[in-house]
Amino acid sequence: INAVLTDDFGRKHNYLRISLIEKCNLRCTYCMPADGIVLSPKASLMTADEIHAIAQTFVNNGVDKIRLTGGEPLLRKDFPEIIAKLASLQTEISITTNGILINKHIDVLKQFNVKKINLSLDTLVASKFHSITLRNQFQSVIDNLHLLLNNDFKIKVNVVLIKGFNDDEIIDFIKLTEFSPISIRFIEFMPFAGNEWDRSKMVSQKEILDQVQHHFPESDVEKLEDDKNFTAREFKIKNYLGSFGIISSITNPFCDGCNRIRLTANGKIKNCLFSNSETDLLTHFRNSEAIEDLIAFAIKSKKKVRAGMTTIEDVNNPALNQDNRSMIAIGG
Ligand code: GTP
Ligand code: 5AD
Ligand code: SF4
Repeated sequence: INAVLTDDFGRKHNYLRISLIEKCNLRCTYCMPADGIVLSPKASLMTADEIHAIAQTFVNNGVDKIRLTGGEPLLRKDFPEIIAKLASLQTEISITTNGILINKHIDVLKQFNVKKINLSLDTLVASKFHSITLRNQFQSVIDNLHLLLNNDFKIKVNVVLIKGFNDDEIIDFIKLTEFSPISIRFIEFMPFAGNEWDRSKMVSQKEILDQVQHHFPESDVEKLEDDKNFTAREFKIKNYLGSFGIISSITNPFCDGCNRIRLTANGKIKNCLFSNSETDLLTHFRNSEAIEDLIAFAIKSKKKVRAGMTTIEDVNNPALNQDNRSMIAIGG
């Protein structure tokens, strides 16, 4: 990692998250505002060639891990082309997806060595799936989860916990890891434009661990070693094949080890998930200007914790944070 990708706190940004599209085939209420979002015009979205060229600049400066997000990344008609181009960069490539279109793309994923898939699935109950996503796609997600398992992909399942909605399924999700080598990640609900966040809807790390400790004998709950740049603090139940983690952006942030830089589908850098100021790369790239200085500027502007907002209520305050996007246009 060179100086371009190192911030003022010494954090080295080797992990690039690229959003491919702002559209999704689900309507999860915590991600997409009920009144919809204003989509960027198609002409302002990066093409496959632009994604490849801009990613190449990041890789030249030390990025060695790329994650594709959305909206739903598999909705891009040119997804196979994008993957084929990015594969030539010789970095790890992974995706975060709702899983609905996995069966359509599984051969491309295998062909280009995309082995790690993070799948969003907030409930194991079909009727509840509809109430959070507003679509009846539960069975296709479950079928595709099995398809991935049968093809030896490394799977993490992302579960955004909402009080009174799915906090009664924490133990059921952990039980899935008894015979399946998957990692379940419980995520504290975070505030983004239009998602009606309220602290009372959030299930905290402490509440999750309380449930775990209540259900399993203490000696069966093992703390695993966390990755140096972790989002999830990892645990496992003794003798279970899989593991579980907790992503506690609200009650226990992990910004000290942040190595993540984001590129939106319309080619702007977000130096933090919660940042409301973005750095436009695509316009300059289209003018044939060099973009390295802009990348360096975006990294140098990065604040120590959560885009400089002291409390999560500040993050959720439109007066202080009016320009952040909805999650659907950030990609997590
Ligand atoms: P791995 O590379 O497998 O560890 O995945 P990841 O956790 O980086 O990515 P994923 O897309 O699966 O994100 C899971 C959850 O973590 C989502 O809710 C993201 O919004 C959240 N998340 C990912 N990166 C960050 C981050 O830099 N800061 C915060 N606060 N949350 C993040
Ligand atoms: N809070 C926490 N996690 C969220 N995600 C989407 N919206 C939110 C939110 N408001 C998660 C989804 C997806 C990942 C990319 O981000 O679970 O798996
Ligand atoms: Fe990095 Fe911002 Fe997430 Fe903190 S909140 S870990 S600085 S992206």
